[in-house]
Amino acid sequence: MGEPARTTPAAPGTAARAAYATVDLIRAKRDGVELTGDEIRWLIGAYVSGEVADEQMSALLMAVYFRGLDDGELRSWTSAMVDSGERLDLGGLAAPTVDKHSTGGVGDKVSLILAPLVAACGAAVPQLSGRGLGHTGGTLDKLEAIPGWRAALPPAEMLAILRDVGCVICAAGPGIVPADRHLYALRDVTGTVESIPLIASSIMSKKIAEGTGALVLDVKVGDGAFMRDPADARLLAQTMVALGAEEGVRTSALLTRMDTPLGRAVGNALEVEEAVSTLAGGGPPDLVEVVLALAREMLALAGIDADPATVLADGSALARYRAMIAAQGGDPDAPLPVAPYTRTLAAPATGFLVRLDARAVGNAAWRLGAGRARKEHPVSPAAGVLCLAKQGDWVEEEQPLLELRGDDESRFDTALEALGNAIEIGPEGPDPVATVIERVG
Ligand code: URA
Repeated sequence: MGEPARTTPAAPGTAARAAYATVDLIRAKRDGVELTGDEIRWLIGAYVSGEVADEQMSALLMAVYFRGLDDGELRSWTSAMVDSGERLDLGGLAAPTVDKHSTGGVGDKVSLILAPLVAACGAAVPQLSGRGLGHTGGTLDKLEAIPGWRAALPPAEMLAILRDVGCVICAAGPGIVPADRHLYALRDVTGTVESIPLIASSIMSKKIAEGTGALVLDVKVGDGAFMRDPADARLLAQTMVALGAEEGVRTSALLTRMDTPLGRAVGNALEVEEAVSTLAGGGPPDLVEVVLALAREMLALAGIDADPATVLADGSALARYRAMIAAQGGDPDAPLPVAPYTRTLAAPATGFLVRLDARAVGNAAWRLGAGRARKEHPVSPAAGVLCLAKQGDWVEEEQPLLELRGDDESRFDTALEALGNAIEIGPEGPDPVATVIERVG
């Protein structure tokens, strides 16, 4: 079947630019016919301006979900998203810029440690971050547990902090990829989030618009991650690395395990506390492993020869963190909110903790109030789950394994329900596995 003619001329009296019959583009994608760059650019622009209706974009997204986007389509789709808003210009900074993005995991407080660590090694780290939705937390929600800390910064203030402190973690302003806000909200309610080209274009368009020179992606794999299957995670990583290269952003990715919570703390203030103790030279080994592996990748891409393990140990990363928090209005010495209620979950038997399921722990923290069901909902800074034992530990029957914390006692039953199948204890420990699985780049 030949490609159908899909262009409709602009109606007399309308702006003199190409317009397309949206239904033809939906049919084309539905039938596996490649869309042209012009068609894709028009579609994204027209959707953002309201010319293309939500129901039409929903149908098109579902067609993309099933048909995918080929390399050329994905490039056009991503650059149309970038062009829907403004691009930050970080060209005036003396230090090389490098950022990191995680696809999201349970207990993933890596950004809080990594940004100041890599800044203390000599790079400039501009982190435009997001809020959490569902069982994984968002970096901004975590930092907002610190009294006074502000996520919303005008671009000039963000740039000044980046220049003076070397790192900044803040919300992407409304001018950065507005197309993604519209598209992500629609994907969320139409079952089209889990599409590799849509995820890749969503993440990479924001990083390209942010203006970073280099980018390391932490693509989580396992039952607690977006991507449960390593092959899917690898394909997502390869797709994003290729998009970065095409746009002149030096990009690499690490696939890291997300079957069990990263570190011990899950929940906003609890994770800030664990991040600070890691910056002070402590920190659980799995968290430190991921932080150092990502730091080494970032420094290599930025062309900086420094040893992040030394910088983590000598206190200069902690000093950078404190400066970053203070520059954004936060008090790094202020006590963090503490939940008034706690419950513990004890080991049902003696043996090795063979499995401590990340998704279940994430859901329990979410049900306690640490996360949100809808993006306009508030989160509790204090609620969460502390893992008193880690996967692989020997535990005794009745030993407390998890400590649940909440502001509202009525939430504990449903949180405990989420943990129903989270724990497995057996006579033999699981094989020790590294948290960092492989590099793509
Ligand atoms: N994170 C994003 O920013 N976009 C997606 O589509 C998925 C995760």
